[in-house]
Amino acid sequence: MYIYKAGVIGAGAMGAEIAQVISYAGLPVVLKDVNQELVDKGIAKIRAIYDGRVKKGKMSPEDAEKKIALVIPSTDNNSFKDVDIVIEAVPEKMAIKQKVFQEVQDIVPETAILATNTSALSISELGSATKRPGRVVGMHFFYPAHVMKLIEVIPGLATEEEVAADVMTFSETLRKIPVKVNECAGFLVNRLLMPYLNEAAFCLQEGAATVEEIDQAAVAFGLPMGPFTLVDNLGLDICYDVVQVLLNSYGSRMKPAELWMHFYEAKRFGRKTGGGFYPYEDTDTSKIKALISKAQATSPKKNTKFSIERLIYPMVNEAIMCVEEHVSTAADVDLAMLAGVGFPQEKEGILHYADATGLDKVLAELMALHETHGDRFWPATSLRRYVAAKFLGKKASRGFFEYST
Ligand SMILES: NC(=O)c1ccc[n+]([C@@H]2O[C@H](COP(=O)([O-])OP(=O)(O)OC[C@H]3O[C@@H](n4cnc5c(N)ncnc54)[C@H](O)[C@@H]3O)[C@@H](O)[C@H]2O)c1
Repeated sequence: MYIYKAGVIGAGAMGAEIAQVISYAGLPVVLKDVNQELVDKGIAKIRAIYDGRVKKGKMSPEDAEKKIALVIPSTDNNSFKDVDIVIEAVPEKMAIKQKVFQEVQDIVPETAILATNTSALSISELGSATKRPGRVVGMHFFYPAHVMKLIEVIPGLATEEEVAADVMTFSETLRKIPVKVNECAGFLVNRLLMPYLNEAAFCLQEGAATVEEIDQAAVAFGLPMGPFTLVDNLGLDICYDVVQVLLNSYGSRMKPAELWMHFYEAKRFGRKTGGGFYPYEDTDTSKIKALISKAQATSPKKNTKFSIERLIYPMVNEAIMCVEEHVSTAADVDLAMLAGVGFPQEKEGILHYADATGLDKVLAELMALHETHGDRFWPATSLRRYVAAKFLGKKASRGFFEYST
């Protein structure tokens, strides 16, 4: 099914940007929120993105106006009566999202796709509250949506194959990189990212390294920013909610470091609250030091060692588990990490990195980390199988990928 017109529900941080992305691709898009003021704020945000493009000389003011005119502001669900897809970007609460779909399902055409931008809620559960679970699918954009290329396309248990395929094609129309992800808690990128962010917190609370040292090591590895800068950008509150979902699904290996709780309780969520692990508007660094000292004083482990492997290997291990569970293919895992996380291009993705390191070395390092830090480093089952079968990565010409000699 070709998508000629789209609708976005919720004109907040994500919704407004998603509408901008759709308008930029030349398609009309209805942008709805609960009142005119919020819709106007969304439209102002879209205008600011276009103004930025005009200022950089990337488009003419006339073209920008034509694109902005494609966004149809609305506070009324009846505006969705002729759309081919509705993308909801309302707050991350199952009850709100279910209600939003229930309200529009009889207004949109019967063939319309109901897509959700949820970060971590179950697509299947959301779909089950609608009359057409087959038309419900995850379409997970990354923040900021007008910059980030990746879209995770997540079919639920009842989603029709054609619906996921149509959303993949639609995502390409939007000049994005879609990756199909079979439904699991945290989907793909957040599932891989959270153990990495969590390990950074363990390193800090155990006195292994400072915030700055940890961030610098990640940047030296080739990531666009360090884990604490990333949490400050994403919002600790959002990360915290995702970690809870992961903990409920995967158990103890996702158990958050106590340090998160201290920052969470102090409402230091990052940039949006004026301060997080770094000072922004709130320049009083003593608050940061006090929270770190508190976490270090009560940490069950102290004076552990920092290494970049300690940060990266939990991600590698989780990536291997995703492949063994058929969440995504190895190639798609790598693509998602490049487009969604900014994993260094020259390493060609996280599983290419594991192959280049040598899977026997990855296994040995995970075992050593497990010995020191416990179960969260227990190697993925299939990693042993690869090593035993001498699928050792690049040096053996085969690992997660095949290499010509
Ligand atoms: N912010 C991120 O980094 C990010 C990244 C990826 C995905 N997400 C997901 O996107 C969704 C939205 O997140 P956000 O950060 O944009 O939230 P937000 O709070 O900035 O915006 C949500 C908007 O939805 C509106 N809304 C609530 N009920 C509505 C209704 N019935 N009809 C129309 N509008 C309604 C609110 O008024 C608000 O403007 C969440 O599911 C979140 O998990 C967020």
